[in-house]
Amino acid sequence: MPRFSVATPQRTYTAVVERGAIARLPEFLPAKCGRIFVVTERGVWDLHGARLRAALSPTPFETLFFAGGEENKRLAHVETLAEQMAELGGDRSSLVIAFGGGIVTDLGGFVAAIFMRGIPVIQIPTTLLAQVDAAVGGKTGGNLVAGKNLFGAFHQPLAVLIDSEVLATLPVREYRAGHYENIKHGIIAAAPLFRLMEQQREAVFAQDPAILEQIVAESVRIKAEVVSADERESGLRRILNFGHTFGHALEAETKYTRFLHGEGVSWGMRAATHLARALNMLSDADTESILGVLNAYGPIPSVAGLSTQPLQARLLKDKKTVQSRIHFVLPVKIGEVVVRADIDENAVCGAIERALAECQ
Ligand code: GLY
Repeated sequence: MPRFSVATPQRTYTAVVERGAIARLPEFLPAKCGRIFVVTERGVWDLHGARLRAALSPTPFETLFFAGGEENKRLAHVETLAEQMAELGGDRSSLVIAFGGGIVTDLGGFVAAIFMRGIPVIQIPTTLLAQVDAAVGGKTGGNLVAGKNLFGAFHQPLAVLIDSEVLATLPVREYRAGHYENIKHGIIAAAPLFRLMEQQREAVFAQDPAILEQIVAESVRIKAEVVSADERESGLRRILNFGHTFGHALEAETKYTRFLHGEGVSWGMRAATHLARALNMLSDADTESILGVLNAYGPIPSVAGLSTQPLQARLLKDKKTVQSRIHFVLPVKIGEVVVRADIDENAVCGAIERALAECQ
């Protein structure tokens, strides 16, 4: 049973990757735990709530629902959740269990970060994307109209329970979109993971349990290592943003309605790969391999109607853009990336154009 330690200045905790991991929940409950609030979405609860109920039994808990979807990852919902927790008697000894996809783990984690100036959270992610990325590493928060994830806090969980059994009910599109974060981890830090995903696509699509667990465990291992080295993204953690700068621009430009986050990241990795190739940083062979895998796990929805200039303008609004310097994470070979803030605008424009042309 893989267990990974995430060691941050805020706290050291375990990410458990195991079929049936939800049943491990009692191991991670604080000894003196007050009211427990399960923050979730109705659909997730209907499918998997019984597992969580069984794991918590006989401990009482309150279930708080909010509507999923990237467009709902907003401050207004945080306030509603916090008011509900206060009305139900929440105090400093309370615990949040964020049980759902990336929207729930981000927003549920943020409510925990601010309620009574901070109470603990246990993350139980139920989508592939949340399991291998959003729920591990303590980033919590939500979107402003101006852009994605523009409010938030670092709030490390007590534990992350990653149970691949819940993935069986994921819609095919969401399942595939989650794999782009695994491909990302392969490109930034683990060539063997990238090659596994390249060679085992059929087994991945068929949800072969052994392959799936191997991929998820390897992805969580990489994420845990990077976060342990740099909790606050002052250096190494930036590499996890590979594909995200371009991808967030695409998501924001389409008002978070056309692309799932993983699909945005796929398009963003495509643009970053073209950019690295144009700057002679990446070989033709590695460029072809990366684009080949992105195609093999696609397609993503069409980018029809989008144009280069507004996307380029959006890059400046990304929260990783500091004093108008955009930080690009660029691959130099499969398994290694560099962060550069000195990239010529024309090269960026060319990369966006190529990525748009390939995804019409
Ligand atoms: N999703 C990028 C990070 O956690 O830093």
